[in-house]
Amino acid sequence: MKIAVSGKGGVGKTTIMALLAGELRKQGREVLVIDADPSPHMAQTLGIGDTDNVRPIAEMGKLLAERAGKSQGSPFYNLNPEVNDLLRDFMIEQDGIRLMILGAVQTAEGGCACPENHVLRKMLKKMLLTAKEVVLVDMEAGIEHLGRGTVAGVDCLLIVVIPSKSGVRTALKIKKMADDVRIPQVYFVGNLIQSADDRAFLSKELGEEPIAFFPNSSAVRQAERDEQPVITVSEGLEDAPRLLLTKLHSTFV
Ligand SMILES: Nc1ncnc2c1ncn2[C@@H]1O[C@H](COP(=O)(O)OP(=O)(O)O)[C@@H](O)[C@H]1O
Ligand SMILES: [Mg+2]
Repeated sequence: MKIAVSGKGGVGKTTIMALLAGELRKQGREVLVIDADPSPHMAQTLGIGDTDNVRPIAEMGKLLAERAGKSQGSPFYNLNPEVNDLLRDFMIEQDGIRLMILGAVQTAEGGCACPENHVLRKMLKKMLLTAKEVVLVDMEAGIEHLGRGTVAGVDCLLIVVIPSKSGVRTALKIKKMADDVRIPQVYFVGNLIQSADDRAFLSKELGEEPIAFFPNSSAVRQAERDEQPVITVSEGLEDAPRLLLTKLHSTFV
């Protein structure tokens, strides 16, 4: 299962992906998290310490091409995080969660990080996973990755949305683009929920009920302020990560 996340800046994409990674791990799944945000901070959110020596995925394209040599076919064929030694060079692992960093460098002029995104797109399309493996892709805010088709290879897109009119507007725009690139499963996930009214507002305005609701949690805020991994927080989350995973399980084999 390959899952990406989208949504406006600051709505909680990284937080929710980290909590989901923790829950998947708890349930015995193999988790690979790909931080595709140009200003990556998934490592800190997961509590993975030193990422200085991790090779960014951006460097992978050349390496794979060299390895493939003159052989026919895509060098990305049969990529598998379990068995492929090459992928291990690009990972850091802690407590059973593996992390890769895209390493996109954006120029001051806002230039496109095209080689990086090309590698990511190929990886997501070609990576073959066993039933136990889950890939989570944390994305930058906005819709560029959908516009470029970077995440077209995922099975599922989670659109994180907070209960505000502008949040809903962006979420609906993202949903439309995700449908256009034919991502098979696209779900809304409500975040910063404080009341039944918030839940009702989102369901009504989005035209469907979000697959999960994450409460506004002071423990999550505190963890972030203390630079503690959010993955260890369970207090005040009302089982949201577990319920989200249950819903995802019911839609995937
Ligand atoms: N459910 C929540 N309860 C409280 N604070 C949250 C929650 N989700 C996210 N936050 C806080 O909101 C801020 C932005 O979250 P983050 O996950 O980095 O957003 P994004 O990845 O969408 O930019 C962080 O300070 C984070 O701790
Ligand atoms: Mg983020």
